[in-house]
Amino acid sequence: MSDHSDWHILVIDDEKDILDVMCLTLSDKGYQVTTAPDGTSGLDLCRKVSPRIVITDIRMPGMSGLEVLEAVKVLDPDIEVIVCTAFAEMDLAIQALQLDASDFITKPISDHALHLSLKRAKQRYTSRKKLQDYTKFLEKQAADQAQILHQDKMMSLGRLAASVVHEINNPLSGILNYIRLMSKIIEKHPLKEVKINKFKQYLELVESETERCSQIVSNLLAFSRKSPPAMGPVRIQELLNKCTSLSQHKLALQDIVLTTAFQPNFPDIQGDANQLQQCIINLIFNAIDAMPEGGALHIDSQYHTDKTHVTITITDTGVGIPEDNLPHIFEPFFTTKQEGYGVGLGLSTVYGIIDHHNGRIEVKSRPGKGTTFIIRLPVTDSC
Ligand SMILES: Nc1ncnc2c1ncn2[C@@H]1O[C@H](COP(=O)(O)OP(=O)(O)OP(=O)(O)O)[C@@H](O)[C@H]1O
Ligand SMILES: [Mg+2]
Repeated sequence: MSDHSDWHILVIDDEKDILDVMCLTLSDKGYQVTTAPDGTSGLDLCRKVSPRIVITDIRMPGMSGLEVLEAVKVLDPDIEVIVCTAFAEMDLAIQALQLDASDFITKPISDHALHLSLKRAKQRYTSRKKLQDYTKFLEKQAADQAQILHQDKMMSLGRLAASVVHEINNPLSGILNYIRLMSKIIEKHPLKEVKINKFKQYLELVESETERCSQIVSNLLAFSRKSPPAMGPVRIQELLNKCTSLSQHKLALQDIVLTTAFQPNFPDIQGDANQLQQCIINLIFNAIDAMPEGGALHIDSQYHTDKTHVTITITDTGVGIPEDNLPHIFEPFFTTKQEGYGVGLGLSTVYGIIDHHNGRIEVKSRPGKGTTFIIRLPVTDSC
């Protein structure tokens, strides 16, 4: 026999004989049973003993079974209520079901009908509890996930803020120093020829440091999608040729062999040629930096058979990117280069520009073996 001791049942009926028989039958089956002779005391007991199932007669003096059902559901909607009706009271039974009774049984109550009804009520109760637990579990998971994402975002933003402060602070303190120096000189001495030359030199430094600041800010703007691209037809092959000839000198200096494979009959794409050139140059320069001892750089372009997009692939045989760094390389100011050699804005700018062109950029890397960047750009009808 299955263990029913966890199941507390409250039986409400104004007929003492029925209460006694029910109490005996249910206790025999192992249920915990409490009985009440009317609706009002039944509800009081319901509050005190918190049963999982209430079996109530429909026709009772005072509070009717339907009123008991409604009050129990207000008290705790999870309690299952089975109502007992006479044969001729189908309309009452239907009303009870509409008020969320789990079942009705007709009098005289047979053992079989009672146990079938209890089985259904228990199933309903258990499934509802399982669903509630599962919903709680899912809600908690969603909340945890959101919390993790939020923390990640805050950490990235924190890193970004720290880097902006760091990178802009250096040129700004340079600017400030030269301005102070110039003010002091003006205070102490009238301007002589030799001072004017010094001044010119300082002003040049002020200008170049200010340009550095504005370069950092404009790269950040490209990443944050604030500077819109100037769209027009772009010949990818021509663009790649221009980028490789611009890099030729750097490649030769570092003993890097360049190979290219540009697919013929390439369509024009819609884009901002300057911004796309900036992307390719950034990727080539990163590849060069990754091959300090020389190596091979391969660039290819393909027009895909589905005619929806083109890809540009840039592969180097350099140091590669450690797995831990991969999730961060597109973040602004992420750099592994020595102070003064990299700001960490190259790839974030590339990412922002490609995203602006509705394209995608992917990276594959094997530490010690090399890295491949793949850019996919859509080909639109207007080209
Ligand atoms: N081809 C590559 N091979 C190995 N590591 C790379 C490659 N490209 C990028 N990385 C890694 O990603 C980091 C971020 O690159 P990103 O271009 O954003 O910044 P950076 O080159 O360090 O500085 P910046 O481009 O602003 O001068 C690099 O510091 C480097 O660690
Ligand atoms: Mg770079």
